[in-house]
Amino acid sequence: MFARRIAVVGTGYVGLTTGACLASLGHRVVCGDVDPQKIERLRRAEVDILEPGLAELVAEGLAAGRLSFVVGAKTAIAEHEDGAEIVYLCVPTPMGVGGVADLAVVESVIDEIRGLLKPGTVIVNKSTVPVGTSQRTIELLNRSDVSVVSNPEFLREGTAVEDFLNPDRVVVGSDEQDAAERVSALYARLGAPTVLTDAASAELVKYAANCFLAMKLSYVNAMAELCERLGANIADVTEGMGYDRRIGQAFLSPGPGWGGSCLPKDTSAMLQVADAADFEFRLLRATIDTNERQRQRIVEKIRFAVTGKRGGSLSHMRLGIFGLTFKANTDDLRDSPALAVAALLRQAGAELVAYDPAVRSDNLRPEISSVTVVDDPYLAGKEADALVILTEWPEFRTLDWSKLASAVRSPVVVDTRNLLDKDTLRRAGFTWTGLGR
Ligand code: UGA
Repeated sequence: MFARRIAVVGTGYVGLTTGACLASLGHRVVCGDVDPQKIERLRRAEVDILEPGLAELVAEGLAAGRLSFVVGAKTAIAEHEDGAEIVYLCVPTPMGVGGVADLAVVESVIDEIRGLLKPGTVIVNKSTVPVGTSQRTIELLNRSDVSVVSNPEFLREGTAVEDFLNPDRVVVGSDEQDAAERVSALYARLGAPTVLTDAASAELVKYAANCFLAMKLSYVNAMAELCERLGANIADVTEGMGYDRRIGQAFLSPGPGWGGSCLPKDTSAMLQVADAADFEFRLLRATIDTNERQRQRIVEKIRFAVTGKRGGSLSHMRLGIFGLTFKANTDDLRDSPALAVAALLRQAGAELVAYDPAVRSDNLRPEISSVTVVDDPYLAGKEADALVILTEWPEFRTLDWSKLASAVRSPVVVDTRNLLDKDTLRRAGFTWTGLGR
């Protein structure tokens, strides 16, 4: 394989994983970031996101001399002898005004590096960007000797390294075939199916996939509600559906709604894109509305479980909250459904004491304002009127539920992830309420 000289701009989730994984594939990678302290830590292989295997890969790349970290986009490009051949843009594209992706950072990086690029350089957009960004990047670059390629990333938090190195597919889009082929060749060793396409289609694949996943989850959450009304069991229904290979078993677990830094942002952005194209995307609108409603529905479920009646008051009820992150195996709280449900419970007057394996009480982030965080799960249960599972951390299964039963005021569990074994809970003396059964 031919080792390429690669610069990665941005060492966030996607950038750092991309840099470390490309280095592990044998390429020479320099990662640049604006934050000097972060770069210092990365040079010591200190990775501050919770991502299995990433710190090890960074340490390996550093030791092999294939991976290095520098301050600034310009330095990342210039650090390579003869300049970088391929420059990955992995910078934030947050939700801007009206749900439209904000491209300010992409634009300022392009401004910064424009004059520095050698003829023949390929710019790769890895950030999730609206359709048309490749075209906009070409205009901003204003260099006919530099190519732009869209190469969306499909990794999930918590399994980012695994997803990068064993992808379901690689998507590379450009209006310049040669540039697209150079980028897809970087991943040749992975042996994944590759979709080579035009820039607009590649950009759309990412949104289309994330919106479809969100739709799948909203569908399952709606189906779980219907199961409750019809006396059916959602676990059996989804299992039965999932054996159909056109549907698949994955991504069919009901929960308190989908969240995180991607699905909410991308569904809103897609809706804006559709609006701007004068297309009324009703299915996507319903997907988002169903998700909003799901949070309220969870609160009503908790209300019923605690008070025994619809519309009962949660005022001064003490709830032990298990899980704050948007899903298990991550410490990410961005757009967490658990926090959204917690905020609604607070509004309803409940007092919340929360435990999450990835959130420490001495390192509280601004997202957590309305919740008291404890470092001991049994403290979260102390004198609680109910325990509520909001994130599917596997370790909740193996808690000493008898010990929790003697700590609570009332032995009620509302399990919004259908995570726990209800017989174990019953034996410990709890009543268990899940979703969709
Ligand atoms: C998502 C996509 O799954 C990735 O393919 C994509 O690359 C990434 O966004 C991105 O755009 O960067 P991620 O945000 O890490 O990945 O999280 P997911 O694992 O997709 O979970 C999203 C939400 O759905 C979480 O709140 C999770 O708890 C929920 N979920 C997931 C369920 O409620 N049930 C399920 O069966 C699966």
